[in-house]
Amino acid sequence: MKIARFSRIGFIMAAAGSAVGLGNIWKFPYITGEYGGGAFVLVYLITVLLIGFSIMIAEMLIGYLGRRDTVTSFEELAPKHKNLWKLAGFQGLAGLFIMIFYSVVIGWIFNYIVTSLTYLPSTVTEAENTFTTMLHSDFWTQLFYHTASFVIITYVLHKGLKGGIEKLNMFLMPALMLILALMFAYAVTLEGFSKAVTFMFSPDWSKINGDAFVTAVGHAFFTLSLGMGAIMTYAASLEKKANIVKSAFWVVFLDTTIAIVAGLMLFTFLYQYGSGPAKGPGLVFISLPAAFYEMGIVGNIFAVLFFIALAFAGLTSSVSLVEPMVQYFIDRFGWSRLKATISMGTFFWFLGIFAILSNIDGAKEYLTWGSKNFFDWVDYVTAAIMLPLGGLLMAVFVGFVIPRSEVEATMKPQLKWAFSLWYFSLRYITPVAMFVVMLSLMGVL
Ligand code: PFF
Ligand code: NA
Repeated sequence: MKIARFSRIGFIMAAAGSAVGLGNIWKFPYITGEYGGGAFVLVYLITVLLIGFSIMIAEMLIGYLGRRDTVTSFEELAPKHKNLWKLAGFQGLAGLFIMIFYSVVIGWIFNYIVTSLTYLPSTVTEAENTFTTMLHSDFWTQLFYHTASFVIITYVLHKGLKGGIEKLNMFLMPALMLILALMFAYAVTLEGFSKAVTFMFSPDWSKINGDAFVTAVGHAFFTLSLGMGAIMTYAASLEKKANIVKSAFWVVFLDTTIAIVAGLMLFTFLYQYGSGPAKGPGLVFISLPAAFYEMGIVGNIFAVLFFIALAFAGLTSSVSLVEPMVQYFIDRFGWSRLKATISMGTFFWFLGIFAILSNIDGAKEYLTWGSKNFFDWVDYVTAAIMLPLGGLLMAVFVGFVIPRSEVEATMKPQLKWAFSLWYFSLRYITPVAMFVVMLSLMGVL
C-alpha cells in the first residue's frame, strides 16, 4: 500500500532523529542532576543496554513485518485475538498526547533562540524571573511560538515520508551533531570539564534507590522513543533487506552518545561559569543562560547555537510523534496526507493551548487537579502509564504471540548466537521490569 521507502541511511537518521530529542538535552541532564550524577547514569546505561536495545529491536521488527500503520500491523501479525491485539496499535496515540506539551516546550526554545541574540540574564535570579514571567504570565508569546512549532511540524509531515521526514532529518541531524561537537570541543578545554566527568561518572551509590531505578527505566523508554509506535511506524518503511540489529544499534548508540555529550557539556559550563550542577526542568532555561552570560560574547553565540540545536532535536522527534496517527488515518480511513496531518496537528495544537494556560496565573487554578496541572498530567500519564504499557505489550507480542519460527526467520540471521539472549530478555526480563515500573510510577508500589 505504501510505496515510499526510507533509504538505509535515511531510516537511521529518521529513527535517530526521533530518539534524539528534548529528552537528551533538556531532560537527561536535569534528572541526572536530581539523582546526583554517576550512579544514576550507570543505572540508566545498563537499562538502555539490557532493556532499551532489545525493545528497540522488537519494535522495529513489528513494523518491519507488519509493513502497515501500527494498528493494522498488530492486527495482521497476531495469529488469533486480532481484535484485542489491534488495540495495542493505539499506542500511537501516546505520541499525540506527548506533543501537547512537547510542542509548547519547543515554543519556549524558539523564544529563547530569538531573545538570546540580544539578551542574556546576568544572574540566576534574573534568569529565573525571565523564565517564570514567560511561563506564568506571557500567554501570547507562548501561544505564538507553539503555533510556529505546529506549522513547521505539520508542513514537514504533509510533505511525506521521503520528501518531508527523511529530508528534514538528513539535514537537521548532522547540523545538530556539528553544533554539539563544536560546543563540546570548547567545553573540553575548560577546567570545569574534569569536574563534570567526575560528577557524571563516579557513582555515589547512596543516591540510588527504587525511585532512581524507575526514573532511569522510564527515561530509557522516553529517550529511545519506545512504546508509542514511532519507531514501528518508521520501520514499516524499511527496505526488505535492511538489517534491523545494525539500525537499532546505531539509534541506541547515537541517542546515548548525544545524551552523554550534552550532559558533560552542560555540566562543564555550569561548573565553570555557574553554580555547579543544577537540577529541575529549569536547567537549560535558567541556570544555563546565566552561565552563558558569564562567557561574554561567546556566550551569546553559544546560547543561540545551543537553542537552535535543541530546537532541531525537538522538531525531528516531533514529526515521529505525530506520524503514527497520520499513518493510521491514511491507511485505515483513506484520508489524504494533508487532511491527516492538519487534523492531527490541530489536535495537539488545540490541547497545547490548555497546556500553556495551565501555567498561566488566573487560568491555572481551573486546570489543576490534585498536585499536578494539565501540562504535568499529560507528561505523567504518557511517561508513567502509556509508554511502559506500550513496551510491555510489544515485548509480550514479539516474545509470545508472533510464532517463534517467524521471529527466528528474520532475527536469527541478524542476531546469530545472541538470538536466544534477546528472546529471553523480551520474554522475561523486560515484561517484569516494565510491570514494576508501571506500578511504581502509578504509586502502587
Ligand atoms: N525520544 C524523544 C526524546 O528523547 O526527546 C521523545 C520521543 C519521541 C518519545 C518520539 C517518544 C517518541 F515516540
Ligand atoms: Na532521546
